Amino acid sequence: MMLLGLRGTGKTVLLNEIGKIANEEGLLISKVEAPEKESLARLLYPEMRKVMRSLSTVEAARQIASRGLKGLRGFASIFKIEIAGVEVGVEAEAGLADSGDIQHDLPDLFEVIGLAAKAAGKGWILLIDEVQYLSETDLSALIVAIHEMSQKNLPILLVGAGLPQVARLAGEAKSYAERLFLYPGVGALDPASASQAVEKPIIDEGATITLEALDCIVNRTKGYPFFLQEWASIFWNNADGQEITLDDVNRSYAETLASLDGGFFRVRIDRLTKAEVQFVKTMAELGEGPYAMADIAKALGRSQSSLGPTRAKIISKGMIYSTDHGYLAFTVPLFAEFMQRHS
Ligand SMILES: Nc1ncnc2c1ncn2[C@@H]1O[C@H](COP(=O)(O)OP(=O)(O)OP(=O)(O)O)[C@@H](O)[C@H]1O
Ligand SMILES: [Mg+2]
Repeated sequence: MMLLGLRGTGKTVLLNEIGKIANEEGLLISKVEAPEKESLARLLYPEMRKVMRSLSTVEAARQIASRGLKGLRGFASIFKIEIAGVEVGVEAEAGLADSGDIQHDLPDLFEVIGLAAKAAGKGWILLIDEVQYLSETDLSALIVAIHEMSQKNLPILLVGAGLPQVARLAGEAKSYAERLFLYPGVGALDPASASQAVEKPIIDEGATITLEALDCIVNRTKGYPFFLQEWASIFWNNADGQEITLDDVNRSYAETLASLDGGFFRVRIDRLTKAEVQFVKTMAELGEGPYAMADIAKALGRSQSSLGPTRAKIISKGMIYSTDHGYLAFTVPLFAEFMQRHS
């Protein structure tokens, strides 16, 4: 499964919750976040090692798992991953996960883990956040590995989370990825859920909030979880009575905006170069979006092709993505309004 959604919509929160449930169900869990410019081999090596070592303590799985640890030894050396302590003495097994091609070696290791887990009567769930930062080769390897696990009916599950472009990236990496994964969208909350998210914690604290106050925050945040969280936290701290009123909510709006502008929005824009900022500024000036590339080029007085590299860089930084219809959109909710406030 790949959870897809804009920034601040609750993907990481959901991933953690899935991990918690899996833990209660007795599964082995690994949770990693794909950083920009780090290889999947390096990211997963310690997790695979941990899982194999844990499985090697189960009698029925010991032999398979120790073969896996040998495979991992070869894997570490071919992918130049530093190893420490006990592994130094482990001999690699020739031909297992040591080709240096991640698309072969990762499925090899997953298979051994899957077989060991099956023998142990266990399952392994791998949670990967920020999937859009994986390189195409790494994403392909991951897809191949999961595909093989599902075909061989081995107990390894992947739950990924990332920006909306992950569906396209996965499809481009392997066309069957479209059928391999479910892609639930994680987006703004509907009005009833947004109201509940704000009201329930207030009631749990023995206070109340008026209906008009609730409506105001739900409407103006458009139900985006992070904005609800931020605004509610600020008016909660500022309100003095037992009942939160529309006035309390309104009085905290400026502080909420300032906090979002200085944090949530600012950190995104600070990662862009001057030319990239110009590009997103121009997008924001065109209104709410999504935006046609032709309109952006026209507003900038440039040709579409000359803007290709800038566009690609901003996408790779996770600031914008290309929609199903080839339009560009911001990955951060209400980003156009932020830019307009600061232009
Ligand atoms: N189910 C929920 N109930 C209450 N608050 C939530 C829920 N989901 C998300 N939030 C709020 O939204 C915030 C953002 O959630 P989260 O960090 O999971 O977003 P994200 O989709 O991972 O964002 P990013 O793409 O920036 O990593 C949380 O810190 C929390 O305040
Ligand atoms: Mg997140």
